[in-house]
Amino acid sequence: MRFLISALCVIVLFSYAAAYDPLDPNGNITIKWDVVSWTPDGYVAVVTMSNFQMYRHIMNPGWTLGWSWAKKEVIWSMVGSQTTEQGDCSKFKGNVPHCCKKTPTVVDLLPGVPYNQQFSNCCKGGVVAAWGQDPSSAVSSFQISVGQGGTSNKTVKLPKNFTLLAPGPGYTCGPAKIVPSTTFLTADKRRKTQALMTWNVTCTYSQFLARKNPSCCVSLSSFYNETITPCASCACGCQNKKNCVKGHSKFLDMVGFHTPKKDNEPLLQCTHHMCPIRVHWHVKVNYKDYWRVKIAVTNFNYRLNYSLWTLAVQHPNLNNVTQVFSFDYKPLLPYQSINDTGMFYGMKFFNDLLMEAGPSGNVQSEVLLQKNKDTFTLNQGWAFPRRVYFNGEECMMPSPDTYPFLPNSSPVNVLNFPTSILSLLLVLLVVW
Ligand SMILES: *[C@@H]1O[C@H](CO)[C@@H](O)[C@H](O)[C@H]1NC(C)=O
Ligand SMILES: *[C@@H]1O[C@H](CO)[C@@H](O)[C@H](O)[C@H]1NC(C)=O
Ligand SMILES: *[C@@H]1O[C@H](CO)[C@@H](O)[C@H](O)[C@H]1NC(C)=O
Ligand SMILES: *[C@@H]1O[C@H](CO)[C@@H](O)[C@H](O)[C@H]1NC(C)=O
Ligand SMILES: *[C@@H]1O[C@H](CO)[C@@H](O)[C@H](O)[C@H]1NC(C)=O
Ligand SMILES: *[C@@H]1O[C@H](CO)[C@@H](O)[C@H](O)[C@H]1NC(C)=O
Ligand SMILES: *[C@@H]1O[C@H](CO)[C@@H](O)[C@H](O)[C@H]1NC(C)=O
Ligand SMILES: *[C@@H]1O[C@H](CO)[C@@H](O)[C@H](O)[C@H]1NC(C)=O
Repeated sequence: MRFLISALCVIVLFSYAAAYDPLDPNGNITIKWDVVSWTPDGYVAVVTMSNFQMYRHIMNPGWTLGWSWAKKEVIWSMVGSQTTEQGDCSKFKGNVPHCCKKTPTVVDLLPGVPYNQQFSNCCKGGVVAAWGQDPSSAVSSFQISVGQGGTSNKTVKLPKNFTLLAPGPGYTCGPAKIVPSTTFLTADKRRKTQALMTWNVTCTYSQFLARKNPSCCVSLSSFYNETITPCASCACGCQNKKNCVKGHSKFLDMVGFHTPKKDNEPLLQCTHHMCPIRVHWHVKVNYKDYWRVKIAVTNFNYRLNYSLWTLAVQHPNLNNVTQVFSFDYKPLLPYQSINDTGMFYGMKFFNDLLMEAGPSGNVQSEVLLQKNKDTFTLNQGWAFPRRVYFNGEECMMPSPDTYPFLPNSSPVNVLNFPTSILSLLLVLLVVW
């Protein structure tokens, strides 16, 4: 019996981890196929991928979409994307299809392809913004001409087994479902047209499926205690420790050193946490009605620039954010009534690119919060975040018993002298 209960708990925990995203319970990526014409041997469809996740975007090197055809379909042509392999089209004389594989693999085109290969919302190298960051960039689409398939809504068979890699695993896609046909407004907005048939596929994310170890960690400090609580040791697993780079190595200047590898293998700076990303939260000042936090995000991967990065934070006082310096900020309301979560992201052309490890590999901000008088306290680590997510991945927090501790004896006020020493320490920490 006891075994059964613990087994049940394991199963419950397992499915909790796999299916539930506390910050973005309704987030998903929806892939919609709109059939815009039937052809003598198949159809032409516009495929639209919408990233409805509030804070998780698809970063470089972009999405890869796969599926299995239900019949003997081939892809005659594509606009705005391409398959990675053509497959065996030797049966075809004259007109040769773009792809004859039973399970095609599709990727976006790169920016700057000729106009005749472009399609609306295409050609971004598969990079798709998070909905909460920029809905207009959260969409990717292409056109596909399918042959040897059904030629009407009675005979068409929906593609099966959709898979989405973005980059790396993590998404699980459901079956395609026929939904009410999409209506489109013509460019002059004077006429409505309608898809001949529409189906949707929904893909949901699970960090649990994506990787064994976290990919970022959190460190903490405060003006009221000079202890800096570092990231936990091996917070992201120490398996890369063998081939990490010790700081300031001459090796760093070698040509080709920073070149991203095909398999996305990181090349990390040696740290005790071995995380590609560290988020540091410093409680900087305690004013009468406000308090101020400094946030720094550091990249320890020499082989990756993080484009369009996002940082989501949960803290009970985020409902009273008054001012955010150097980052953009947007409250997230996962449960409508609870406003304790927000998303920070880089300002366009200023710090929306988090550079590879090294002297420029960090971004920083300060946040001014109005105190909620009933709950604000410096006691028991209240001023530190509850959860932190970088690019939608939950970051490893240090163990609560190591948080900087409020000295019992000293009164809670602004201690100017230690603050400046701590700022100096923090600068050193960030540089390191
Ligand atoms: C996917 O997200 C959209 C937008 O939030 C939502 O309307 C839709 O119900 C979601 N689909 C599923 C299957 O969760
Ligand atoms: C198929 O098309 C016919 C008209 O051509 C329409 O009446 C019918 O509702 C459509 N069925 C579906 C499932 O879209
Ligand atoms: C879809 O995937 C499942 C499991 O991976 C496999 O058993 C099935 O044969 C696939 N279906 C098609 C049509 O490829
Ligand atoms: C299908 O996807 C579109 C977005 O691509 C969404 O607006 C629509 O609500 C979805 N339909 C269903 C029934 O999920
Ligand atoms: C990161 O971006 C900079 C500037 O755009 C570029 O010089 C560098 O090669 C990039 N690094 C990687 C690893 O892609
Ligand atoms: C949520 O908090 C933000 C400040 O972070 C505030 O601007 C916004 O009005 C709040 N929204 C609700 C619904 O309380
Ligand atoms: C803080 O935010 C809450 C809800 O968003 C609001 O009711 C309250 O007036 C704000 N100010 C303080 C000082 O709590
Ligand atoms: C600062 O915090 C550390 C870690 O929690 C604690 O051990 C130490 O006693 C604190 N220092 C003071 C002066 O209270």
